[in-house]
Amino acid sequence: AKPAETPKAKVLKVGSETTFAPFEFQDEKSKEYVGFDMDLIRAIGKEMGVEVQIQSMGFDGLIPALEAGNIDVAISGMTITAERAKKVDFSTPYYKSGLSMVVKVDNDTLKTFKDLEGKRIAVQIGTTGAMEAKKIKDATIREFNNAPEAFMELKAGGVDAVVNDLPVNEYYIAQAGGKDAKVVGEPLTSEEYGIAISKKNTETTEKVNKAIEALKKNGEYERIYMKWFGK
Ligand code: ARG
Repeated sequence: AKPAETPKAKVLKVGSETTFAPFEFQDEKSKEYVGFDMDLIRAIGKEMGVEVQIQSMGFDGLIPALEAGNIDVAISGMTITAERAKKVDFSTPYYKSGLSMVVKVDNDTLKTFKDLEGKRIAVQIGTTGAMEAKKIKDATIREFNNAPEAFMELKAGGVDAVVNDLPVNEYYIAQAGGKDAKVVGEPLTSEEYGIAISKKNTETTEKVNKAIEALKKNGEYERIYMKWFGK
């Protein structure tokens, strides 16, 4: 008789732009991808009985990678938008977010989005922040590959403000000890993050949604949430 084959776990190929703390970033020591999204997708993978493999790529490359079938899902603090939903499906929303603005700590003139008219603004390419900043009258928009580069440009004085997701802005400022920059004004938008999946892959979307539901019921979602956002 043939020896029984050990069943190999199926792989879930996950794409993410991994410089978006506290959602996805690389741990300096272990070099592992960590963060709220990373814990969540690993927990989802466990529920689904699959092995999670995380691949880092540019944010604007995630939807094309899904469409090409190079990855199965994208989790990347990605806002569910009507525009994106034409190209990919989204899981049930898993996090409420919104855009805010960051200015230098000693800036007392920029207080609201209205004040950004005619100013220089740094954003991450392909994001809702980039989209919204482009609507601001007479503003000069500088697009960077990732949020840390946008923050660096603010610090260097090359721009007047960064428009980016509020929880990421707050995390950045807390990490820097509030020395360089501050969040000002009310959030500009109200957004929800979803896991993006190819439209051809409805089975995966169903499984991901079931897993999210299970994690909300069994307290695991709450545990992960508190780990990253609990005060
Ligand atoms: N929520 C924003 C968007 O969907 C920004 C996401 C950026 N994510 C990242 N991992 N860099 O456009």
